[in-house]
Amino acid sequence: MKNEVKVRKKITVVGAGNVGTTTAQLIAERDLADVSLIDIVEGIPQGKALDIQEACPLWNSSARVTGTNSYADTAGSDIVVITAGLARKPGMSRDDLLLANAKIVNGVAENIAKTSPEAIIIVVTNPMDVMAQLTQKVTGIPHKRIIGMGGVLDSARMRAFISLDVGVAPGDIKTMVLGGHGDQMVPMPRFTTIKGNSISSILTESRLKGIIERTKNGGAEIVGLLKTGSAYYAPAASVVEMIEAIFGNKEDPLPCSVYLDGEYGIKGVYLGVPVKLSSEGIEKIIELELAEDEKEALFASAEAVRGLIKKIGI
Ligand code: NAI
Ligand code: 2OP
Repeated sequence: MKNEVKVRKKITVVGAGNVGTTTAQLIAERDLADVSLIDIVEGIPQGKALDIQEACPLWNSSARVTGTNSYADTAGSDIVVITAGLARKPGMSRDDLLLANAKIVNGVAENIAKTSPEAIIIVVTNPMDVMAQLTQKVTGIPHKRIIGMGGVLDSARMRAFISLDVGVAPGDIKTMVLGGHGDQMVPMPRFTTIKGNSISSILTESRLKGIIERTKNGGAEIVGLLKTGSAYYAPAASVVEMIEAIFGNKEDPLPCSVYLDGEYGIKGVYLGVPVKLSSEGIEKIIELELAEDEKEALFASAEAVRGLIKKIGI
């Protein structure tokens, strides 16, 4: 029998909490790569990884899933997903997590720079745009390989709300939420379509406004229901959508937080815009033609992120 050696990809997920473990599960279930799950708490990543490993035969997946507390075990990863940090509780905004999570992400980034300097890094920890910028600063990894996850989630939420309201399949709906993943995110009704038709020709202004507000409030709505933490099924699925795009399994551009160096007239800040992802990280930033009010909303969102960046002095 001929021995075929398939080179498997390795993905490290930092933080074996709700988002991290669900992400690890989805990667293993789809057999996208081997997974290394790392956390500071002893036993948790090992136990959760073993549990996922034991599910792999049922998924017909060959993924190797390991848990660890040591970065040495994560070395040479192709992709690293950072989910380590505190999650929101009711009454907290994503920005309230700034100082505590900056300290955690700083330490995580130092370790990744030493053990997986060639990796593409997907940053999830909130406030995500700021944490992406911090990760780049600490690791020195080129901007094109540090990408924040927020817009994919916010756009999926908007699709879900439209699908529920109108009664059409999510697959027929296209949405685009740009800007920072915070209270000043920018849902784009002009780039929202159902079966190719503009959303404003299908929904009344007030129904559309309701969907936009619910999208902006999507994270807080889940926190209000859960009370002890924040969303993780849709966030993990959004991370995996980005991983699939990096692996070349998705053609469409995705809204991701990336470093803007003059694109959209914005410079020196991570912000959500549509990008084409590839095995190199960010292959291309796509510049949409924005109307004046859309530009203003995007600038305001950039200023909100800048305000937080100043607070942590990077
Ligand atoms: P969680 O509390 O369930 O898990 C966080 C995990 O991080 C815990 O297991 C904890 O032990 C671990 N951790 C803490 N310090 C660490 C360190 N130095 N090294 C390694 N692990 C460490 O929280 P959850 O729900 O998984 O959320 C994680 C983060 O992701 C939060 O900041 C949350 O706000 C953010 N988030 C961002 C989203 C986005 O769209 N960008 C969506 C959902 C969550
Ligand atoms: C969310 O949007 C908390 O950022 C997280 O659910």
